[in-house]
Amino acid sequence: MDLELTEAQRGARDTARRFARERLERVGVEIDRTHQFPAAAVAELGQLGMLGVFIPEQYGGAGLDNVAYALVVEELSVECASTGVIVSAHSSLGSWPILGTGTEDQKNRYLPKMATGEALGCFALTEPQAGSDAAGQKTRAVRDGDSYVINGTKNFITNGPEAAIAIVFAMTAAEKGNHGISAFIVETATPGFAVTRIEDKMGINGSHSAQLAFSEMRVPRENLLLKEGEGFKIAMKTLDGGRIGIAAQAIGIARASLEASLKYAQQRQAFGRPIANNQAIQWKLADMAVEIDAARLLALQAATLKDAGKSCTKQSAMAKLFAAETAMKAATEAVQIHGGYGYTKEFKVERYFRDAKITEIYEGTSEIQRLVISSQVLQNR
Ligand code: CAA
Repeated sequence: MDLELTEAQRGARDTARRFARERLERVGVEIDRTHQFPAAAVAELGQLGMLGVFIPEQYGGAGLDNVAYALVVEELSVECASTGVIVSAHSSLGSWPILGTGTEDQKNRYLPKMATGEALGCFALTEPQAGSDAAGQKTRAVRDGDSYVINGTKNFITNGPEAAIAIVFAMTAAEKGNHGISAFIVETATPGFAVTRIEDKMGINGSHSAQLAFSEMRVPRENLLLKEGEGFKIAMKTLDGGRIGIAAQAIGIARASLEASLKYAQQRQAFGRPIANNQAIQWKLADMAVEIDAARLLALQAATLKDAGKSCTKQSAMAKLFAAETAMKAATEAVQIHGGYGYTKEFKVERYFRDAKITEIYEGTSEIQRLVISSQVLQNR
């Protein structure tokens, strides 16, 4: 693995860092309070090419790679973890299935709009009774002439209310288990598509997690991805990439926690000197710094494998697991370092603590990541 970033990767990172500092710092605070989707900031990210980082130029994207994408999501998440996951779910979960498995016609029809942000994407896999057990799909798609008729309910869909394009998973042959699941590109303006609920969450308040209901929703046959029965593998491959995005988001939250802690620990006086002079605080800061760098190395390792067209199942699960736990630990320590102030909404570390928690849950809980990693290491014995 080459640890040196290319000029293009550095350029993408620096642009995202500048944008985050100039535009997202205030947005991050505001949308946590208002629960508003940051529409203006997302539109500007589209203009900057940040919604199509790894989409090739021929489909209107920035033509960069997954390393650049991970760096961009990290930078955005330092100031606003909601914006980080909006970009990540749109890119890894919404656009990638079309880029990675779509036909030339599907790519030409959808990717240019998605790369600019004209059409936001979402990924509709999770159901009320199918979370970790993603194969337990109850949504049904029945072939009828040149279309499929889809009925069912999806839960916790990031970007659900704002998306123009949804990647929808449904059973076309329930008796075949995971081999009976198919994946469809669905335009959310299709009659029968409805947003039936928006969750009131603990954190990442500017990113909406929605329940979607499909009622006699007719989707043209040409919007099937690959073949009938390929849906579960498409979902798993998509999540291999999605977990890199969530790892990057978690690294951003952890970095924000460390940066706030460094500042506060040097300003706050106790017993006549800055609390940063105490070894108890210094060790916390050291652990946070080490774990953040280690998490980034894991995320960039997974991104490098993905860019090389190699399997990154184990590495992206490792990156997501370690980065999520790093974010939760860093945010917890940041609150501790801030003491009573850290428990108030006056300090951002309170938000980091709430935002960090979800990284251990979505796109596969930490328990599921350990399952994926152990099955990979056992296979490779
Ligand atoms: N790439 C390609 N194929 C894969 C794969 C991968 N990464 N992982 C598994 N497969 C294939 C297997 O090879 C196997 O193929 P065969 O049946 O042909 O042999 C098939 O898929 C089934 O594999 P498993 O037996 O391992 O499947 P399982 O049912 O035991 O489940 C699991 C595996 C890892 C637990 C999986 O269900 C999983 O990842 N669950 C978590 C789901 C998840 O992350 N959900 C989050 C949804 S997105 C979200 O959070 C919302 C949002 O908007 C942010």
